[in-house]
Amino acid sequence: MTRAKQSIHGSWSSRLAFVLAATGSAVGLGNIWKFPYIAGEHGGGAFVLVYLACIAVIGIPIMMAEVMLGRRGRQSPINSMRTLAAEAGASRYWSWLGWAGVLAGFLILSYYSVIAGWALAYAFRAVGGTFTGATADGVASIFERLTGDPERLMGWHTLFMVMTMIVVARGVRGGLERAVKFLVPSLFVLLLLLDGYAMASGAFDQGLAFLFRADFAKIDANGVLIAMGHAFFTLSLGMGAIMVYGSYLPARASIAKSTITIALLDTLVALLAGMAIFPIVFVNGMEPGAGPGLIFQTLPIAFGHMPGGQVFGTLFFVLLVFAAWTSSISLIEPAVAWLVENRAMSRVRASVITGLTTWLFGLLTVFSFNIWSEFRPLSFVSVFRNATVFDLLDYLTANIMLPLGGFAIAVFSVWVMKRPDSVQELALGDGWAYRLWRVLVRYVTPVAVVIIFLNVTGLVDFSGFLGLSE
Ligand code: PHE
Repeated sequence: MTRAKQSIHGSWSSRLAFVLAATGSAVGLGNIWKFPYIAGEHGGGAFVLVYLACIAVIGIPIMMAEVMLGRRGRQSPINSMRTLAAEAGASRYWSWLGWAGVLAGFLILSYYSVIAGWALAYAFRAVGGTFTGATADGVASIFERLTGDPERLMGWHTLFMVMTMIVVARGVRGGLERAVKFLVPSLFVLLLLLDGYAMASGAFDQGLAFLFRADFAKIDANGVLIAMGHAFFTLSLGMGAIMVYGSYLPARASIAKSTITIALLDTLVALLAGMAIFPIVFVNGMEPGAGPGLIFQTLPIAFGHMPGGQVFGTLFFVLLVFAAWTSSISLIEPAVAWLVENRAMSRVRASVITGLTTWLFGLLTVFSFNIWSEFRPLSFVSVFRNATVFDLLDYLTANIMLPLGGFAIAVFSVWVMKRPDSVQELALGDGWAYRLWRVLVRYVTPVAVVIIFLNVTGLVDFSGFLGLSE
């Protein structure tokens, strides 16, 4: 197969459009919902530092590699990998990397959509004034009533999946490009506003100290793995989302510049979210390790007490939905692109099929918060002692599948792909910038991933399962 100059699915109108779309993919629930709660669960500062190091040393170089593979392959990740492997004279089994990505995207979206459903539900509660004057206990009980009711959760999950399917069915360019242009700046403004509120709350210093004062006694090997997994998750790496977006990137756009911009914006959003949330947590005597409900139990208190809180609260949750929406699209785009390429399906049909399957699988997550909330499928493994089905899906995808995908992308880009090809595609010349990228992707990234994995396996204690303890 000869390499097409353009994807059959079209291309972004400019580099800016790509940056916005990829930022839309990167900025999502991971930044605003997940980052604060996992940082809270793993002790704050040290976790944040490891996460930032992973973004710089692993995330940015892998993102460059993933965009590069996409742009050179110009097809869905599965077919791009097959084409690129052929070009390099390597095994066609490299296309499995694309398949693994499709699976990861499907698993992630299945729970992502349920959480995005919470945000939808909260947008409606905010507009109805439910949070006005609310206490910490009041907000906690609103959260429990929502997540405790499988039918309600299913309803919101369904609505969100339908929204995702509609945009994907229409193609990425028109709607998405426009939505993101408005979304990213507005989200920044609202986060800054919330930071302003947090600053005045009286516990801002305590929040900052929690987030930025590193105490390495508080983080263990599992925490380091979670920080690394989150670096992949938050940048949408390791599953083909960024690869497929790269395949729509105009030929001459700079990959390095775009990537760095995307990573910086993404990190900024996460830090702004953390700085808004932890002061509210502390001033209300709440627990930073509250888990997945953290932002849903803290931010409404702020909205309930600030002037104009009803308006800002509504805007915030609407924007959170938008942020999740622009991410969820990228989670199924690799599968949809493949169905269109290989099964000659229309985008509409491909979106409906992938959407429905994902929706169905999402019910596992819906039930994890209510009828199955006591179900601990892997309680015999020490790190999973308290993990629900939802926790396991999240752990498997973010901390295992994405880093492994990223590892394979790294190996392919610098050990399999011919050097002149990556020099040409990255267009950095053959100077220090290219060499730095190459050293990072060739040695640092794979070694870091392996070390972090090996360290954590020491933590998995199968003794209970084997009947050796207690
Ligand atoms: N980056 C998204 C977020 O932070 C999630 C995501 C992961 C999207 C993987 C696409 C691929 O919410």
